[in-house]
Amino acid sequence: MNQDLSWQEKSYAIVTTEDGSPSLHWNPGQGAVGELMHHRGGALSETEQIYGKVINQALSLGMTSFLSVGLGLGYNELVVAREISRKIKSRGNCDGAEGFRVLSYEADSFLVKKFIDFVRGRSDSHVHSQILQQLAPGEESAVLDVLRNLYLNENWKINGALNATTLPAEPYQVILYDAFSSKTNPELWSEDFLLGFLQKGAAPNAFFSTYACTGVLKRSLKSLGFEVQLREGFQGKRNSTLGIR
Ligand SMILES: C[S@@+](CC[C@H](N)C(=O)[O-])C[C@H]1O[C@@H](n2cnc3c(N)ncnc32)[C@H](O)[C@@H]1O
Repeated sequence: MNQDLSWQEKSYAIVTTEDGSPSLHWNPGQGAVGELMHHRGGALSETEQIYGKVINQALSLGMTSFLSVGLGLGYNELVVAREISRKIKSRGNCDGAEGFRVLSYEADSFLVKKFIDFVRGRSDSHVHSQILQQLAPGEESAVLDVLRNLYLNENWKINGALNATTLPAEPYQVILYDAFSSKTNPELWSEDFLLGFLQKGAAPNAFFSTYACTGVLKRSLKSLGFEVQLREGFQGKRNSTLGIR
């Protein structure tokens, strides 16, 4: 499907999930456990269920700042841009994406470069084009315009790996926590880390959404004043977590 061999060179295999949308399987080799970035049942469907609904709800409440942990293939960033684009269109004015802020974290600079090149029109990455077409049919250029404008105006920033030394400098109203699982990425799911991250990164009124559901996560959210809602997991997976404060 994809002629771009750079994915393979970087230990990624492109996998078509059951709703037809692509995901990446990361396989570092040498006995290390790899991980598929999305549910096999549907990368796009999972994104819409776990993150898309919250993004839409937050925008309808007037929220304007988004923090995405784990850029990956950029599904969450594209959904944020799609929803901002629809909001701008419904307002019918010319303010564009001004006033919105997005911060993404991604440990793998290869994934960042691939996505930025695509957004800036510097490459025609097949996999990203396919995601955009499936996620926003007929709205592709409007969605890319939003992301490009945010990027060029420095209202969308991309940091490297999230860890205790790279916590966000400002708080955000919507947190999309899509890091690899605690098996692959134990630090990001530890109580100490989550508390420090939320204290710095979450605005007084905020949503925190993730596919995961762990006791440590629920405890951390509750101790910082979040109401914790357990949502049905995607396609029978265990519950996913939504924190609201
Ligand atoms: C489940 S995938 C994210 C999928 C992504 N949200 C998407 O829409 O395609 C997890 C991502 O987190 C990245 N990652 C791993 N450790 C990280 C860290 N400490 N900080 C930021 N990103 C990290 C991985 O490289 C991978 O791209």
